[in-house]
Amino acid sequence: KRKIIIDCDPGHDDAIAILLAAANPRIELVGITTVAGNAEVEKTTVNALKVCEIAGIPHVPVSKGAGQPLVRVRETAPDIHGESGMDGPLLPEPTKSATSEHAVDYLIRTLMASEGDITLVPVGPLTNIAMAMRKEPAILGKIQEIVIMGGGTFGNKTPAAEFNIYVDAEAAKVVMESGVPITLMGLDLTHQAVATDEVKERIMAVGNRQARFIAELLDFFSGTYREVFGFEGAPIHDACCVAYCIDPTAFECKKLRVDVETKGEFSYGMTVIDLLGVTGREPNVNVALKLDRDKFWSMLVDTIQNYN
Ligand code: BDR
Ligand code: CA
Repeated sequence: KRKIIIDCDPGHDDAIAILLAAANPRIELVGITTVAGNAEVEKTTVNALKVCEIAGIPHVPVSKGAGQPLVRVRETAPDIHGESGMDGPLLPEPTKSATSEHAVDYLIRTLMASEGDITLVPVGPLTNIAMAMRKEPAILGKIQEIVIMGGGTFGNKTPAAEFNIYVDAEAAKVVMESGVPITLMGLDLTHQAVATDEVKERIMAVGNRQARFIAELLDFFSGTYREVFGFEGAPIHDACCVAYCIDPTAFECKKLRVDVETKGEFSYGMTVIDLLGVTGREPNVNVALKLDRDKFWSMLVDTIQNYN
């Protein structure tokens, strides 16, 4: 089993990532940490707790993290995820609460106590991960891998920048330059994981509560993607990271040099990916380029089946 900690800002696709991790036999979900991103951190934390209830994982600790990016003023995404950060499904208030420990301290404590066998899966802005690296640099040698959802060769927040990187590019820079093995699921990859009507039907056919919840998430998420981007079907970005931890053979990846732009007038928050190797600099990131769609959707549908 691969041990992972999901650092997230639920978030429709974050919720699906958690559901995929919680019921897949190849994953041990060690903990969940939350960050401000799609909504304020108070909201993303409540959302994470609600998802835990649906996933039936009361034993997995949820720790609330950073409410503000390192340097920038906070920006959220109500146009994409609604005011709550996870609009659409109507869910009761969670019965479980977050731990009293800050996410950054939870990450440091858990990594330091580990045997170096934990993978971090950040699917929101990278604030918590960067703060943990700065507060306790010794964690660098303890992280097995970081599988990030963020960046790509095009943007969705600006023409150049993807949302998670844009919201806290300074944090993303710290993480990208950390020297820890990194796999990046950028938009080039996640836009191959579009939940079409056909996909939604396959999920609904599973027929359990978790499948209905995912279908409700997809209804709202596809609606905003249609309004904002004119897309049919929303990409399930964050679930790609968990899918990679379950079965890396569903992904074609290439080691490339990736730098995060923190100064550009038009390109703040861009991940500058050296596809042709023109910088001659040492590759620092394993960039996911191609998704085996059949494997990906079967993995999701089969895993939701496990909730029965
Ligand atoms: C990323 O931004 C958020 O809106 C999603 O949850 C995903 O993590 C996609 O750009
Ligand atoms: Ca997210």
